[in-house]
Amino acid sequence: MKNMRTQIGIVGAGPAGLVLSHLLHLEGIESVVIENRSRQYVEERVRAGVLEQGTVDMMVETGVGERLKREGLVHYGVNLRFSRRTHHINFAELAGGQGITIYAQHEVIKDLSNARLAAGGQIFYEVEDVSVDNFEPHSSSKPSIRFRKDGEPYELTSDFIAGCDGFHGICRPSIPSGVLEVFERVYPFAWLGILAEAPPSSEELIYAYHERGFALLSMRSPTISRLYIQCSPEEDILNWPDARIWEELHRRLATDDGWKLTEGPVTQKGITPMRSFVIEPMQYGKMFLAGDAAHIVPPTGAKGLNLAVADVRVLARAFSEFYKSGRTHLLEEYSRTCLRRVWKVQRFSWWMTSMLHLFEGDNAFDQRRQLAELDYVTGSRAASQSLAENYVGLPMDWGS
Ligand code: FAD
Ligand code: DHB
Repeated sequence: MKNMRTQIGIVGAGPAGLVLSHLLHLEGIESVVIENRSRQYVEERVRAGVLEQGTVDMMVETGVGERLKREGLVHYGVNLRFSRRTHHINFAELAGGQGITIYAQHEVIKDLSNARLAAGGQIFYEVEDVSVDNFEPHSSSKPSIRFRKDGEPYELTSDFIAGCDGFHGICRPSIPSGVLEVFERVYPFAWLGILAEAPPSSEELIYAYHERGFALLSMRSPTISRLYIQCSPEEDILNWPDARIWEELHRRLATDDGWKLTEGPVTQKGITPMRSFVIEPMQYGKMFLAGDAAHIVPPTGAKGLNLAVADVRVLARAFSEFYKSGRTHLLEEYSRTCLRRVWKVQRFSWWMTSMLHLFEGDNAFDQRRQLAELDYVTGSRAASQSLAENYVGLPMDWGS
């Protein structure tokens, strides 16, 4: 068994784990990140694409925002489309000049892993059989993470463990049963997403409500479109040849004003189920959960990645206070601090999802109600300002 020692043992090299490791490094705190996938896999995995202003500011202020500033597409609004008409929500006017930046999650991951490795940070990729021990409140030994790398067993001991291993990770299930309370809603639909080599047919995102189901037009660059349609969670991607996806997108995004959807070769496609999920508390003894390990939002508000960043900012500050002064106050408050923001973001993601998707079993009354809500949100300054404020991102330090 190879033994290693660090201050913070981090499980998972997604946004939560890498941002945490980066922020800790800037505070002079040592960490080791372990990840069960390969570096190439995590740096190519297609996921989210919308960064809140606070996420962008954090990256720029901490020295990992150079490429983001160069390549990111800054937007000061989004469009809501329903009844074949488009309504613009103007963030510049409604959200105090804040905007969002389109920059793929895997590009964020590349920038962060490059920065960590360049600074001498340790990330172990392709590890197996990961387990966590001795983090319970009264454990007399130091927390440890065991794993195998290239067949060899390792033990990493640390002062604390950060469980940043996503929804399917091992950290959350390692907490004894009965400690965590689960709050959950599973939606009766999923998103089928594609990347296409086609210039985006709109400068800014279009969220479309349609009687055949939700559709979203997003992008990755001036030449790459990212598009989604609501589908059944049981749908088999093999039943969706490209032509069928484009046909559905044309129908759901259609307008009366001559707008055209540009097609192009589809380079990636996949189906993502949707759920809202929160565990309380987000900590137990010396284990702190962050990001998708602790909560999942449906993607309609584009919040998953941003919420992971907000968590680890709180966590990095708490570790920093502990190592500077020995005080445990912020660590003890970690979960309470995060959850105040997490629940507001859960509410917003649920609300956007409910307003824009077709729910099986809904009747004509419900559809009229959704249309009335869209009409209200786009017609009332108060309502559109609320959407704008949430979409660009609530203050990162809301709960502190
Ligand atoms: P993750 O990114 O999941 O990172 C966790 C890391 O831990 C992964 O690299 C994983 O390989 C690793 N890991 C897991 N188990 C172990 C283990 N036992 N040992 C070591 N490492 C482990 N959000 C949006 O806002 N918009 C979107 O369009 C969108 N699309 C998505 C599509 C998919 C398929 C998924 C799964 C999520 C999507 N999300 C989207 C959500 C967003 O990507 C996540 O909220 C974000 O990745 C959370 O970051 P994280 O670091 O908490 O978790
Ligand atoms: C994207 C994803 C989202 O979940 C969303 O709400 C907007 C855009 C995207 O992948 O670009």
